[in-house]
Amino acid sequence: MKGVFVTFEGGEGSGKTTHLKRLAHYLRDLGDEVVETRDPGGTTIGKEIRTLLLSPESAAISDSAELLLYEASRAQLVREVITPAIARGAVVLCDRFTDSTLAYQGFGRGLDLNLIRQLNLFTTGGLAPNLTILLDLNPRIGLERCTRGSRPGLTSRDRLEAEPLSFHQRIREGYLALAREEPERIRVMNAAMSMHEIEAAVRDEVGRLKGSRF
Ligand code: TMP
Repeated sequence: MKGVFVTFEGGEGSGKTTHLKRLAHYLRDLGDEVVETRDPGGTTIGKEIRTLLLSPESAAISDSAELLLYEASRAQLVREVITPAIARGAVVLCDRFTDSTLAYQGFGRGLDLNLIRQLNLFTTGGLAPNLTILLDLNPRIGLERCTRGSRPGLTSRDRLEAEPLSFHQRIREGYLALAREEPERIRVMNAAMSMHEIEAAVRDEVGRLKGSRF
């Protein structure tokens, strides 16, 4: 049996990490083997790269170096965690993946989308999510959620969160453009809905995906 690969995407403070965890809990109760991971991060090497990328001390990083570090972290994650888990039949839930690079480095920073697509192909070996949940939210609200310190252990903004609102607005528009290109894979949800409404919508999508595969 081959596993299922689901990613969660969205801007800052969109709630994707919370919903990923809730879905993981739900699927485990149904008896699935669930692997939760995050991009960047998810491996020892990825954690080091993540710290480097998010640290306000990395303010001098160039756009191209930033892009390559995200891709490097992902290359390791795919080989070390995601591909083996899918091969043994697990449900893999990943907090961000290739769409983040298109949205942030492509639409946000203005780097060439085709180049990013090629790099994504190289680092993933062509592995694409079966389903992507995009939590869409006005970045004003998302950034406010971040600074209100609703996330444990985080009191100040990281390097990306500290970017101007216009950057985050381009990312939101970019994500929505990606969803229009691949409406079957990328399912857009209004992140301003209640926790329970989003949770039910996520379960529906995952149920539909699993139903279509077995
Ligand atoms: P998060 O996982 O806590 O959301 O933080 C990761 C940050 O990195 C977030 O600001 C989005 C950003 N990011 C990119 O800019 N490009 C990428 O390819 C990925 C995966 C994340």
